[in-house]
Parts: sequence; structure tokens; C-alpha cells
Amino acid sequence: MNKKLFIPLVAATALAACQPTTETAEDRFIDQLLSQMTLEEKIGQMNQLNFDQPLDTVKAQVRRGEIGSMLNIPVDIINEVQRTAMEESRLGIPLIIGRDVIHGYKTVFPIPLGQAASFNPQVVEDGGRVAAIEATSQGMRWTFAPMLDVSRDARWGRIAESLGEDPYLAAELGAAMVRGFQGDSLNDPTSMAACAKHFVGYGASEGGRDYNSTQIPLRSLRNVYLPPFQRAIETGAATVMTSFNDNDGVPSSCNDFLLRTVLRDEWRFDGFVVSDWNSMGEMMAHGVAADRKDVARLSANAGLDMEMVSYTYMDYLPELVAEGAVPMEHIDQAVRNILRIKYRLGLFDNPYIDTDKPSPLYAEEHLQKARTAATQSAILLKNDGVLPLKTSQTVAIIGPMADAPHDQLGTWSFDGEQSHTVTPLKALQTEYKQVKYHYEPGLRYSRDTNTDRFQAVKRAVRQSDVAVVFVGEEAILSGEAHSLSNINLIGKQSDLLQAVKSVGKPVVMVVMAGRPLTIERDLPYADAVLYSFHPGTMGGPAILDLLFGRENPSGKLPVTFVREVGQIPMYYNHHNTGRPAQDWFTPIDQIPLNAQQTSLGNTSFYLDSGRDPLFPFGYGLSYTRFEYANLRLSDTVASPTGVITATATIKNVGTTDGTEVVQLYVRDLVGSIARPVRELKGFQRVHLKAGESKAVTFTLPVQDLAFYGKDLVKKVEPGKFHLWIAPNSAEGLQSEFRVK
Ligand code: NOJ
Repeated sequence: MNKKLFIPLVAATALAACQPTTETAEDRFIDQLLSQMTLEEKIGQMNQLNFDQPLDTVKAQVRRGEIGSMLNIPVDIINEVQRTAMEESRLGIPLIIGRDVIHGYKTVFPIPLGQAASFNPQVVEDGGRVAAIEATSQGMRWTFAPMLDVSRDARWGRIAESLGEDPYLAAELGAAMVRGFQGDSLNDPTSMAACAKHFVGYGASEGGRDYNSTQIPLRSLRNVYLPPFQRAIETGAATVMTSFNDNDGVPSSCNDFLLRTVLRDEWRFDGFVVSDWNSMGEMMAHGVAADRKDVARLSANAGLDMEMVSYTYMDYLPELVAEGAVPMEHIDQAVRNILRIKYRLGLFDNPYIDTDKPSPLYAEEHLQKARTAATQSAILLKNDGVLPLKTSQTVAIIGPMADAPHDQLGTWSFDGEQSHTVTPLKALQTEYKQVKYHYEPGLRYSRDTNTDRFQAVKRAVRQSDVAVVFVGEEAILSGEAHSLSNINLIGKQSDLLQAVKSVGKPVVMVVMAGRPLTIERDLPYADAVLYSFHPGTMGGPAILDLLFGRENPSGKLPVTFVREVGQIPMYYNHHNTGRPAQDWFTPIDQIPLNAQQTSLGNTSFYLDSGRDPLFPFGYGLSYTRFEYANLRLSDTVASPTGVITATATIKNVGTTDGTEVVQLYVRDLVGSIARPVRELKGFQRVHLKAGESKAVTFTLPVQDLAFYGKDLVKKVEPGKFHLWIAPNSAEGLQSEFRVK
């Protein structure tokens, strides 16, 4: 224990022993510490510095107690700066060191959207754990993840970082990621504080344009965007980050309704809230703060505890407190929240990196877990029988993503190294040595428009039995600040695919991308399509295992794949509308000339692209087939406090062992407000040997059907419900029940 605090803490403990109190040792510690802090030291705790100044300048600030946290600090000086905080500042309060460890530190897992395709909380938890073990070994005890923004727009670059379009899936997997990062106890030196971000609504940026405003009404906020955050808080997420967007005019970093009413009063969150990078400063650009002083006042009063890099708290809170514009109790509360997490992390006792410990970076077990994650994250979208390949076949390896070690890591891989990435080409050369192949990328990178090598490509294909074309997006084309208005395959990749197809050999298209691209126009040129959201360090071997049938694809889509960008937003859990789209409509080329104006018979669809997506949420094929039969419910009538059990028999009717993600959906037929046509309420990965069948049971507490209705109170509304056990959001066995 830090010597500077030892005496007061013991005194507090002794005092507490004589008084009946519910105060914990943690509370006492924090109270004691707080009672010794000057206003400037308190404000220092609320200040997060980006390490972009000379070391001596930073150390001087730390010594004066002006910094509570840092991000982007080089690993080799973390101990030194921490020692300054511990030994040279007046109170010896440790720094909390944060970093964007989003889907791995050195061992990079698939991007979060890819991990979501596994529908496997264990895979996601393992990803968080591996990242935490590696990052904490280098001194990072706080990660800015998971990102829990429900994302329904593929143009938005940050869909890559999301867990998809569904609130339930994002909540389940987000909770798993929190468990992975934080481990069994924050106090463990391999645990990192998680950060549920971006609170809230950022995924609904208008037009999919990053940083744009959102227009989310309160009911949708409650029913769609908040649930993953609530689940993360219930799971113990230590911190929350506010989002960049203004929702209906109010930027999150000064939204006291979100930060006080929802987070603190309703959810009893007792960790701390950090702003996003300059999201406080940007309130001036939003036009809700006149100047930097106004920024500090608005955020401090709204309940924002720590400021990331815009330093208005440092500059203006002293005078704002003196003027009475920010009450001292707001400052004390913010500092308590921050100290609480530092205390729980055990930073007061163990602030330093143990440099004597063997390095866990790229541990064999980590690489294996990353490989499993990449395997389970790939989705087979089409297969006319060309897959799996045989190792006796000669394969043409084509396309810019076949050997793109940087790009397959995906967005937010600050610390991942291309020298450790195993690309498909490299995996072929090392793990599938028996396979004969011809490698000709054709294009050097995804945006490349130079087709000079297409003749060489065709030659390579002619000499082969089958072509595998690796296309997609460079890592930099998705992620923060990288939105697109056109999400077709970029550059000349579609032409490359067509050139390959023209040779007449079977063609497999493998896509590595940060978003669901619009690939409808490419499908005719591919006999099979395997979609792998940027798959990380071990993507190469994982993809080859799937292509050659050593593994059977099991991923399912965590987002809807649209046919055309103009269909966006399109998501499976939409409302029915007053004129729900039918599966028939007059195609645009059959509309007669000089047709009279009419709407009769028409419904909510597009003349040119109909009503359906290219692939629905939850969709994904396997090398085997699964049959669903015999759906039965425990009850057809349930009370609001009851439980419904739904069971179906799933049979593997193929000749290959496989894993099916079995999904549970419901629909509330009549509510006080329009309800989604389907809502995911459960999923299970079920492994079935060839020919095997299993009864798969879901237990659905009726309370899980509660929603915020017309009166904005969360409750289950009585009435009739449909229920499906299904292979995806567009199919499945259907039954019904009634809630009394
Ligand atoms: C901005 C991003 O929006 C956020 O997600 C990230 O954690 C911070 N920058 C820190 O790098």
C-alpha cells in the first residue's frame, strides 16, 4: 500500500470499527484520500493527457498532480512516469493508463464485427482475455472497448468495430468482451478496465457519415440503443465513454439525462465516465458551448468525470468552482468515481509493470484462440458445390487480399504487427505444402485500378483446377472517420473476378472487409463465397482450413447484407409498417409507358431492388445441411412472470460434421406501439455429427419480452406472440403463445 496513504487509511479503519456503518474499506480509502486533496489535485484526476509532449514536461505535470490518466504513452516509459506519480507527487495517486486495445493487442483477433459472426460469447470472451493478458503485461490497465453501438448502416466505417445490428446480440457479446477484459476481478494484474462506448447512439449517424448527428427518439433509444450498455454495466464494466454525436441536438458529453438519470440513477453505475477524444471541445463546433469555459461547465455539471485530451477541466474548473457555476460536490463525485476504479484495479498497491515476467505476447495459446475465432467468424454465403477444395487440386491464388498482412488485421490494430500476420498465401506455403498453386494477385491492393496483370491472372487460372480470388477492403477503408457512400468492391476487383471467371474454371471468392459490402453484382462470377470480416493475425490458416474442409463454416451474419447501398437502412428487426412489403411487386421494367399515377397494390419496397436484402441477418451456410423439425412450446399461455420453454429438433442431414447457430426469435403481434417483425431472444451453437440430431431448448423468461411502450414504462404487454426457432432471421419454424 502506498505509504503516503497508509496512516490515514489505518486511522479510518480504526474509526470505522467503532461505528456501525455500511461503509466499505473502498469507501473509507477513497474518502480519506479525497479529504486530503486540493481542488487542483482533484481536477488533475479528471484530466486525461495524450502523450504528445516531451517526457520532462509530462513528468512535471504528473509531479504536480495535474494528470489522472494518460493514453498513447510509449510502453518503455510507463513505469518511469508511474514512478513519478507514485513517489514524487504529493499524494502518490497512480495514473490509469488507457489504450485502444479493440480486438487484440499483439495477437489480433478478427474485428469485432467478425467476432460477432461467430455468435459465440466464448470466442469473444477469449478475445478480450487474450488482449488483456498481452496489454497489461505492457502496462495498459484500461481499454477503450467494447464498442456497443448498434450499427445498421454499412457505409459507416465504424460498423467494423461494432457487434452488429442487433441489440440482443451486441448485449450478449459485449458482456462477454467485458468479462474477458476484466477477468474474475479487476484487482488481478492481468485485468483491464473495460469501457462501454460510445454512449450513445453514435451508430445511427445520419447517412452513415462518421461524427454526424443522430435523431433517435427516446423510445428507440430505450428499446434499441441503450440495452447493450445496460448489460455491460450489469456485467461490471468499469468505465463508459461518451459519444461524438449530438442526438436530437444534445451532444452526449453534456447530456445529463444520459449521464445522471440513466447511468447513475437507473443503472446504479459506480465507475467513471470519460469523454471521447475532444468530444467535449467539439461542443463548441456543435454550437452548444460558447467557449472552452462553457464546455467545462456543461460537462462537469452533466456528470462527465474525466476529460480526454481537451483540457478544459484543467483550465477552467478552478474558476468555475470558485464562481459557484460548478458545485464542489460534482467535482468530488467525479473524483470518487475515478479513484474507485483505480482502487479496484489494485493500482495503489501494484502500479508498475513487472518486467521480470515472461512475455505473453503472441503466446501459442493466444494464436490458437485467434485462429479459432477467425474460423468461427467466417460466413459461407454461397456454395454451388466447389467447396471444400481438395488438397489434390491445383489452386490459382488471385487477388489483392491473398497476401495483405497489414490489411487483414483490420481497423484499430495499433499494436498488431504485419510481420506476425499469417496471410492465406503464407498459410498455404507453410501448412498446406502439399497443395500445388499459382499465385498472381492481379491487383496490388484493393483500390488498385491497374489491370495490366489480368492476362497473367488468366494464365495462372488456366494452369489450375480452381481459382480462389481474395478481394475486399484495405484496413484503412473502414473504422473511425472512414465512411463510404459506395460500398461495392472497390477498385477493379469486380473486373478481376470477371476476368478469372471468363477462363471457365470454378471460382471461389473470399472477401476480407471491414463492412458488409454490396456484392450482389459479383455473385454470378463466383461459385462459392466465403466472407471473412478482417480476420486478424491468424486469418490465413483459418481461411485455408475452411476452404480445404479441415473446418466446416459456422459463422452467421451479424448484419443484414443489402443489395444496393440505397436500401440502407435495412435491418431485420424493422417495424411492419402500414403497408408491409409483399414478396411480389411489379419490376421496374414491367411498368407500362405513360402509366397513370397509382399507389394501389404497392407496398413498402423499392421499385428497383424490391424489399429483401441480399442476405438476411443470421444467415450462413455450412458444408452440411441442418433440418429443423418439431417445434414445441412448454406452454401456449404464460404469465408475465412466467417462463416459456421452446424446443426444436435439429438434424444434421449431410455427410459432414458441423455446427449450427440455432436462433430464437419472437414477435409481439399487437402492442401499444408498433413492434419489430422479429427480435432475436436467444442463440446456441450446436455441434452435430453427420446424421446426428438433437433437441435444442431455449428458455425464455416472459420478462425478456418487456419493452418501453407508449407510456415509456418498461413492461410486458399482454397479448399474442409469434416465436421461431430458426437458422436465420428470414426462415424457421413458427409457433405462438399468449401472455396473460
Ligand atoms: C476516438 C474514438 O472515437 C474512440 O473510440 C477512441 O477510444 C478514442 N478516440 C481514443 O483513441
